[in-house]
Amino acid sequence: MSAIISDTLIILSDLHLGPGWRHGELGSLFGQHWLLRLFSLDKKLSQYLEQGLAAHDPSVTGDLPLYLSTLLWKLKQEGYEKEDFDFHVVLGDVVTWPDERSFDFARRYLSWNWVEDIAGLGLHREKLLMIPGNHDKLFKSNLFLYHEFARHVRVEPQPQPGRSYLVSKPSGNREFLFASIDASVYCGKNLQISKVEDLDRLTNFELLSCRDHIARGKVTEELINELVEKIVRLKRGESVDGAHLKDYPTATKILMIHYALDFKKVVSTSLWKSLSNFAVPHECNGIEVLLERVKGEFDLAVHGHLHSPKVYYCGSLPVIAVGTSAQRTTESPRSFYLIKLTESGKIFAEHHHWPQDSNGFKRDTNEALTCELAPPRAA
Ligand SMILES: [Fe+2]
Repeated sequence: MSAIISDTLIILSDLHLGPGWRHGELGSLFGQHWLLRLFSLDKKLSQYLEQGLAAHDPSVTGDLPLYLSTLLWKLKQEGYEKEDFDFHVVLGDVVTWPDERSFDFARRYLSWNWVEDIAGLGLHREKLLMIPGNHDKLFKSNLFLYHEFARHVRVEPQPQPGRSYLVSKPSGNREFLFASIDASVYCGKNLQISKVEDLDRLTNFELLSCRDHIARGKVTEELINELVEKIVRLKRGESVDGAHLKDYPTATKILMIHYALDFKKVVSTSLWKSLSNFAVPHECNGIEVLLERVKGEFDLAVHGHLHSPKVYYCGSLPVIAVGTSAQRTTESPRSFYLIKLTESGKIFAEHHHWPQDSNGFKRDTNEALTCELAPPRAA
């Protein structure tokens, strides 16, 4: 790729931060409720569930800030003229376990340059875009702790549960619109689960009903109508949430959601994957209706959640699925994206990963993951 890059975004997702540098582990899930012990009879399923609750790998979180600095330096060597990436986008599941200690570590890691003598990301609040994921409200009926965390990193306001929030940001000659969507399903009431051991206190019904809200997404009619109305108002030149665009048609419009826009295009249809998804459903109901109603409005959609990097299309809308950027896992490579835009509006997706047999991040040469995106066609 020889075109000069004018704008850049770093897309992180599913950091799954724990309560401190060295405190990623959360204890065994299967010494707990008898139903969970039943799951443990299947080795693959138990490994899947335990990895879902694993926190960050300290060597990955420690290396990421240094790797991003090196990446920026290389971009400058190639002609990129800015002193930093334009935006950092964090697509939810900032923490694995939504307690005060984990969010406090997340606050320091995201916003400080150094945390206990180890490099932090030091992200500038004006350049930081975030949305919550299912882990950021695990067993909770609201986003109270996540919103407190957002307030402390001074990225506010954030979408309310089941709602959207729009923000516009200038970058050089270009305007960006970021539409944040919260499509999480919430508990009817807080389940008072503050540590893994508390799972024992759940009734059988409460534990089984977790299938409905623990990892599943849902886009409601209210959310769709709200987003469509906001887009109409923006097009009329009105201010909406934190967004106001001088020229709607030429702005680069990005849809940010934690859940997959097309689950089946990201996750394989193997029997094992179907079984694990039956145990803990990860789809997002109603997402296809939202995509139909906002057809032609966005240039790019980005999501996380499935820990499986992928570039795919919903109709003509390019979609980037980001893997987990830091979780301790034996299954998925750690993953983030660098999005590059040229002056003429071409978009390149560059996948960076930490393969299992490696000791650091590197640019992914797989052309299915590192590629130019086809521009969406007008509706
Ligand atoms: Fe998630």
